[in-house]
Amino acid sequence: MAPVAVLTGALVLAGCGSEDGKDSAAEVSVSGAYMPQPVSESMAAGYLTVTNKGGAKDELTSVTSDVGDVTAHETVDSSMQEAKDLPVPAHGQLVFKSGGNHLMFEKLKRKPMQGETVTVKLHFTESGTVTVKMPVKSATYNPKTGH
Ligand code: CU
Repeated sequence: MAPVAVLTGALVLAGCGSEDGKDSAAEVSVSGAYMPQPVSESMAAGYLTVTNKGGAKDELTSVTSDVGDVTAHETVDSSMQEAKDLPVPAHGQLVFKSGGNHLMFEKLKRKPMQGETVTVKLHFTESGTVTVKMPVKSATYNPKTGH
């Protein structure tokens, strides 16, 4: 009977992740969003982390905001270029951070100031639209130290 007992145990373990029956669906959430107060009147950058807890990949197809035009940029060999359809892997992350991928705000209608909040909508293939309240921090804000 011993081999049967082992097999049963393995099946129970494998079933753990699908208790809610949605294990295959993408499930994205956003954390750590912030915008350093821009030095420019017309352009700004924004950073955040998209986490996908689901078992299927998702894709960030576009970003919109009421303060101006937004595009996702990636940094390649220290020059930046527009990125389209950024993947969010299953059980993975899509990270926008200083020196890497970033959200690029252009044609700003007003200059965001420290203490304000900018509303950003992230549009995903699977998860639809996720609205993010992005706080404006100081121009030199460092998320690692919180200053
Ligand atoms: Cu850029």
